[in-house]
Amino acid sequence: MSQRHILVTAALPYANGPLHLGHMLEWIQTDIWVKFQRHVGNNCIFVGATDAHGTPTMLAAEKLNISPKVLVENSAEQHKKVLMSYKISLDNYVTTDCMENHEITKLIFERLLDKNLVIEKVVDQAFDDKKQMFLPDRFVKGTCPRCKSMHQNGDSCDACGATYSPLELLDPKSTLSNSTPSIKKSNHLFFKLNAFKAYLQEWVNNNLNENLKNKLFEWFSDELQDWTISRDEPYFGIEIPGYSGKYFYVWFDATIGYMASFKNYCDKEGISFDDYWSKDSKYEVYHFIGKDITYFHCLFWPAVLEGADFRTPTSVFAHGFVTVNGEKMSKSKGTFILAEEFSQNFEPDILRYYYASKLSDTIEDIDLNYSDLVNKINSDLVGKLINLASRCSGFISKLNNKKLSNEIYNTDIITHFQSHSSELISDYQERKYSRIIRKIMALCDEANKYIDHEKPWLLAKSEDQKDRAIQVCSDGIQLFRILIIFLKPIIPDIAKKSELFLNTESLSWNDHKKLINGEYIQDFLPILSRIDLEQLNTLKGN
Ligand code: MSP
Ligand code: ZN
Repeated sequence: MSQRHILVTAALPYANGPLHLGHMLEWIQTDIWVKFQRHVGNNCIFVGATDAHGTPTMLAAEKLNISPKVLVENSAEQHKKVLMSYKISLDNYVTTDCMENHEITKLIFERLLDKNLVIEKVVDQAFDDKKQMFLPDRFVKGTCPRCKSMHQNGDSCDACGATYSPLELLDPKSTLSNSTPSIKKSNHLFFKLNAFKAYLQEWVNNNLNENLKNKLFEWFSDELQDWTISRDEPYFGIEIPGYSGKYFYVWFDATIGYMASFKNYCDKEGISFDDYWSKDSKYEVYHFIGKDITYFHCLFWPAVLEGADFRTPTSVFAHGFVTVNGEKMSKSKGTFILAEEFSQNFEPDILRYYYASKLSDTIEDIDLNYSDLVNKINSDLVGKLINLASRCSGFISKLNNKKLSNEIYNTDIITHFQSHSSELISDYQERKYSRIIRKIMALCDEANKYIDHEKPWLLAKSEDQKDRAIQVCSDGIQLFRILIIFLKPIIPDIAKKSELFLNTESLSWNDHKKLINGEYIQDFLPILSRIDLEQLNTLKGN
């Protein structure tokens, strides 16, 4: 099979907050896929960025008395540091305020203008006279026009589910100054999304999996609304050429940030940007996202790209939301756990393994349940997988001076393990990680049963059975090695420690076909320790 060229992204986290365990689901899901692609020999580039622009960033910076640019740089540094601690194998990380993003955003806008895909309309908008600024929907609160419940957001009602514009709220208030907003007219730019309806229907049909398709087809039952892509100053964003005082709405330049981060990488590495993004590109582009931002990635984004004569994504992969112990992550309940707090207290592979054991290709929410987590780590990972290596290595060290047997004792079990390669490859490719974990744990059980059945501790006692004990335990180590190769994209740190123990260079997928008869192993050092519930309960959350 020829080598594939793949570009992968995860959604760009907002600059106005730190990464939490919800974000990590996405980074881990994406990173496993990227590591898998590289493991099997594909060329896979993974880029990301911090999403810089928008009113929330501007206001957060104002509060801290720093410029938005400084705030964005600081949080990008922080995001990057946390991602590194989880072994997320990004090739490049920038912010959407980078020069490349300014340039590509303007280029795309100009191409859309030339093709008459952008129109101007005058709209009524809520304006805060005290702050002297137009108010985004979520900065207006008031009484729901339908059910009359109070303190509802400017775009929808939590009580009855009605959606409306902030101008329809009864008794509206600006959340910035608590004053009653006035209504002011402003000229805005709109992208003609509906011009792409037929194109999008086909794109969705050809490129998305069933789970997402159904959601999108609901949206196609109506005309697609024009999309406002401009905002009035004061706004932290990219100024719109030819429209002074107007900025691109953050979501217009955010997805373009994927291209910008990649362009920045291409220029450093001497890679051709066009090979990936030109209309006739043969290469693959995938975006991993949370289900809440499907509309932006599966309608606006392909339409904008198509309109601006770039290629569209090969696919978009969406996941569900993380809940903690069955409930939405909550600051007041102490379950809004920051990614950094978790990685300072636990090995990141623990979270990687746990999320993998729950992830599939659907948009179902994913519950991080503390006792389930403890159980999966202690009984699966430590009790089954690591234990296989530790129990077998003891005998090899004692009986044969750390040298593995020169021949396999039970070829059947080895071949049986190796024969799982191709189905595991499809599971990875299709992001069915929970199936991988289930299959591998079943194999772990088989390996441990084999050792239990052969009873090397008894064999070791008599001189004429000693060789058989060495052979059986060597089989056990060979099986462990195959399982580590299969699991490596999910648990990179454990894999690395196992490689040290196995005395080997970095293992890749095809190495599962080789055997390591007669080779030496290292002393077994604890690869991972058990965790307990109490430790998890000490996590304070933000
Ligand atoms: N900045 C936008 C994305 C722009 S992409 C061009 C954004 N940022 S975000 O910080 O709110 O979210 C980043 C990603 O994390 C999104 O894919 C979002 O779905 C995901 N998650 C945020 N909270 C989450 C959970 N609790 N659970 C799972 N994923 C979550 O949206
Ligand atoms: Zn209501």
